[in-house]
Amino acid sequence: MSKENKEVLLHVDHMKKYFSIRNKGILKAVDDVSFDIYKGETLGLVGESGCGKTTCGRTVLGLYPITEGTVEYEGKDVTKLQKNDEKWFKKRAQMIFQDPYASLNPRMTVGDIIAEGMENFGLYKDPEERKARIHELLQIVGLNKEHASRFPHEFSGGQRQRIGIARALAVDPEFIVCDEPISALDVSIQAQVVNLLVKLQRELGLTYLFIAHDLSMVKHISDRVGVMYMGHIVELASSKELYANPQHPYTKALLSAIPIPNPEKEKNKVVLPLEGEVGSPINCGPGCRFASRCKHATEKCKNETPELKEVSEGHYMACHLFS
Ligand SMILES: Nc1ncnc2c1ncn2[C@@H]1O[C@H](COP(=O)(O)OP(=O)(O)OP(=O)(O)O)[C@@H](O)[C@H]1O
Ligand SMILES: [Mg+2]
Repeated sequence: MSKENKEVLLHVDHMKKYFSIRNKGILKAVDDVSFDIYKGETLGLVGESGCGKTTCGRTVLGLYPITEGTVEYEGKDVTKLQKNDEKWFKKRAQMIFQDPYASLNPRMTVGDIIAEGMENFGLYKDPEERKARIHELLQIVGLNKEHASRFPHEFSGGQRQRIGIARALAVDPEFIVCDEPISALDVSIQAQVVNLLVKLQRELGLTYLFIAHDLSMVKHISDRVGVMYMGHIVELASSKELYANPQHPYTKALLSAIPIPNPEKEKNKVVLPLEGEVGSPINCGPGCRFASRCKHATEKCKNETPELKEVSEGHYMACHLFS
């Protein structure tokens, strides 16, 4: 995407999402993250399991009430919407869920699953029109109209994810949080689903927040990538810049773990091991969350949270040592 047409669609400012864990305390799943998503782009969000990616996506969409901070969609704070405005946002912003097995109601037909959003938003009210639209959506995602009368258990994982995509598209959204849409699928199917999402983005002008823990995959489809570590965004840059010039020690370690398709280069590459203990997000205080695993960490790193700062144009990083 060229710089000229950068128009902010979603502005996340100091967003926090804490969960209260009985007898244990406060789990800081997302702890003060800020980022923008531009119209028509794909922002990738990567990080290890449990670092807060899904929570981030769900809080942005209002599926979890925000603990602190704001989320603005087209300039409107969507964390404090009244009924009518809430509908306005929910129609525009959809989610494709991480687990295609758990996210489809097993007692509903595929047609009814897709129609649910249309019903909620009063779209395609004429039964014939609605049926035609459901069939069209099934075709768009690579299924066929006969599938409308079947139930989710009759489908493979890849097909279920296509149903999840059709459901998200049913309300003609502008923005979709794609939460690891391919991680539960066979490798052979993954590329098909990614290609479908890329094609739909191009044809429908969609904007994506694309969550993944596989850095090599987001590289190909993201314009920019944010790297999360235990509730914080530690680095954010254009995809190209992040891969060519990673700055944060965590990003460097993640990148070094990606296999290189060239056997000669793969043999000689240096993998930066992630050592040390992974901290707990429960009751954690200030300090860099990565400090316990970082061989460069100083006292300051353990006691003061580094802010995400711009280190070069459009490249942001949160690290005391390199800022
Ligand atoms: N509803 C909840 N109640 C309490 N804790 C939660 C809830 N949802 C998530 N968490 C906790 O918040 C942290 C972040 O979880 P989240 O699911 O956002 O991680 P993730 O990055 O999406 O991981 P994965 O890659 O495994 O999907 C974890 O420690 C998790 O246990
Ligand atoms: Mg997740």
